[in-house]
Amino acid sequence: MAEISEREILDWLRERDPSRLRELYAWADRVRKEHVGDAIHLRGLIEFSSHCIRQCMYCGLRQANSSLTRYRMSREEILGCARQAVSLGYGTVVMQAGEDDALTAEWIAEIVGWIKRETPLAVTLSLGERTAAELALWREAGADRYLLRFETSDEKLYRAIHPRRSPDGPDRIALLRELRQLGYEIGGGVMVGIPGQSYECLAGDLRTFRALDLDMIGIGPYIAHPMTPLGSGQLRPPVAPGEQTDGSEEMTCKMVALARILCPTANIPSTTALATIDKANGRKQGLLVGANVVMPNLTPVQYRRLYEIYPAKACIDEKPVDCNQCLRGQIHSLGRLVGTGPGSRGEAEEFAGLIEPSDSQLVQVQA
Ligand code: 5AD
Ligand code: FES
Repeated sequence: MAEISEREILDWLRERDPSRLRELYAWADRVRKEHVGDAIHLRGLIEFSSHCIRQCMYCGLRQANSSLTRYRMSREEILGCARQAVSLGYGTVVMQAGEDDALTAEWIAEIVGWIKRETPLAVTLSLGERTAAELALWREAGADRYLLRFETSDEKLYRAIHPRRSPDGPDRIALLRELRQLGYEIGGGVMVGIPGQSYECLAGDLRTFRALDLDMIGIGPYIAHPMTPLGSGQLRPPVAPGEQTDGSEEMTCKMVALARILCPTANIPSTTALATIDKANGRKQGLLVGANVVMPNLTPVQYRRLYEIYPAKACIDEKPVDCNQCLRGQIHSLGRLVGTGPGSRGEAEEFAGLIEPSDSQLVQVQA
């Protein structure tokens, strides 16, 4: 049974010595192999609307960014992407969009229903903060999973970078609990290196992953977008001297490795943001330090450039078939396998006939 104390978590987050970090990464990789195996699951990402009514201080899709041409894909275009996911051998599609009020919950439910009836795909939704009634409707339509990163577990920082939609707007942690109640597999996650984020904040993020018992954990570096208040430096959340984290590949890899050690059975992607800050090796690096999922982009090339959450996104001009080839090549070069089927949490253990006690019994975090 692995044990890791709060103090040790903070020490690892501050660690810079390459040989010590190699130990951390090897530990995380062993935990990954033991609990989720060598399969890497491919989740095809469909970014189907770049309209958003929110004003998140770091995100290029924020409504106030008038320099962005917005698009909304048609139902036929989305279904075309789902068919392509099947033909490329993916087990899941992730339907992602900004908080776009023009997309009705019924319209989305119909598309989810079609994909579930006509294909073997698992459907993951990533549509931001929606009402309990909408989330319930999509679940009834067959949606399997929901991704809603909470971005940071530090409440003050969270509030500074997420203006509320309404004074009583929901809180993302509460929404994740609601989603779990509805029977979704739930995904959360954070950005690493947000201005105003301290090492303590990152340790808090790791604790929150465990407390929520997340099925999926997305961790990516924060990348400054010049058309946003946080990225332009106009907004500077305070942080104590020497406490500011950075959005480097190393810091991101430490967080991925610690998330794997603390949450052994979670599905953890090697994120596009990590691939963006190290185009040559970022994706593979994530897979070497605990990740077991990648999310190839299925968005038609003419829209991709417009879904500019942050600048210079990886694979911006690659066609879906090319990303598919490229990723399979990378996976094989690591001596790993491409997962088949939906790749839900817990599948790997079932296959191995190795259903372990619950997470909390496996890893004890000492307060
Ligand atoms: N840098 C890195 N990641 C970002 N995201 C949004 N803006 C940025 C940025 N500037 C991430 C958030 C969000 C996900 C869809 O993209 O974590 O949840
Ligand atoms: Fe898109 Fe390599 S994953 S080109």
